[in-house]
Amino acid sequence: MEFPRLRPRRLRQKESIRRLVRETRLSVDDLIYPIFVRHGENIVEEVPSMPGVFRYSVDKVVDAVKEVRDLGIPAIILFGIPEHKDEVGSDTWSHEGIIQRALRKIKKEVPDIYLITDVCFCEYTTHGHCGVLKGDTVENDLTLENLKKQALSHVENGADMLAPSGMMDGMVQAIRSALDSAGYYHVPIMAYSAKFASSFYGPFREVAESAPAFGDRRSYQMDPSNPREALKEVLLDVKEGADIVMVKPALAYLDIIAKVKEATLLPVCAYNVSGEYAMIKAGGRLGWIDEQKVMVETLISIKRAGADMIITYFAKDLAKLINSGALPL
Ligand code: PBG
Repeated sequence: MEFPRLRPRRLRQKESIRRLVRETRLSVDDLIYPIFVRHGENIVEEVPSMPGVFRYSVDKVVDAVKEVRDLGIPAIILFGIPEHKDEVGSDTWSHEGIIQRALRKIKKEVPDIYLITDVCFCEYTTHGHCGVLKGDTVENDLTLENLKKQALSHVENGADMLAPSGMMDGMVQAIRSALDSAGYYHVPIMAYSAKFASSFYGPFREVAESAPAFGDRRSYQMDPSNPREALKEVLLDVKEGADIVMVKPALAYLDIIAKVKEATLLPVCAYNVSGEYAMIKAGGRLGWIDEQKVMVETLISIKRAGADMIITYFAKDLAKLINSGALPL
């Protein structure tokens, strides 16, 4: 059978039938909101290149988390900006570290939000690289030792899930075994498995003060040209005991998300990163695109590609839209 008897437009005639045949839906359940905590007191500062995104001191972060919780968003991922950086990033495993203080405070005051921590060193080292340097290179296995200390300290202070993002070989296995031997076998790991060396991280590095002082991250983050290597990374993390795998960035890597979804039975997370957010906000502010509609279309594309959950700076904006019954736009 073919045209004129076959007419796909029959199922597009009005919203009621379009609702029935819609294949992808966004839900508040899909969302993880990134939150930046910084040293100091009484600070709520907006990030210039990311309108609507703030850095909070620990005393101010609770209200921000409550807002996220009240919108129905299940989880946040925490990033820290410490007062003191050093060569190895020792703030990351200190009891008085910025993340540890934030974790204790949030766990106590907003116990019903799911607390994920980014486990890495770039925001905490003077050189801005994601581990311990030996000469000009990040020494993989020394970094693993420090990652274990950081991971344990996060969990001891209230983290529900850990998200290692440094792209060190063996990082999932190292963290898994450290957690298991300390009795934290119930704490899941969400691995930044396929994390590309991307220019879309630009605004984040400004917010987190984490740009490398020299060189770049191409000796540990992945080459954007390599889809097969992305699958290799994902499958290794699965073997090492990851509970969730992540692709990052999202928008320029939708093909990778789709391939990863087919290659594993684990849930797949996608990170809709700072540069993706900044571009849409900027285009909207200039009046060149409809910010809300482009946001929704972008997030749908990420979900359609196969993401089960999305880390996004748009989480609050999207949750407000969903909760007001405005979707689809
Ligand atoms: C590393 C980390 C980065 C991001 C999340 N975790 C930055 C990097 O690799 O340079 C980027 C997130 C974003 O751009 O939104 N700790």
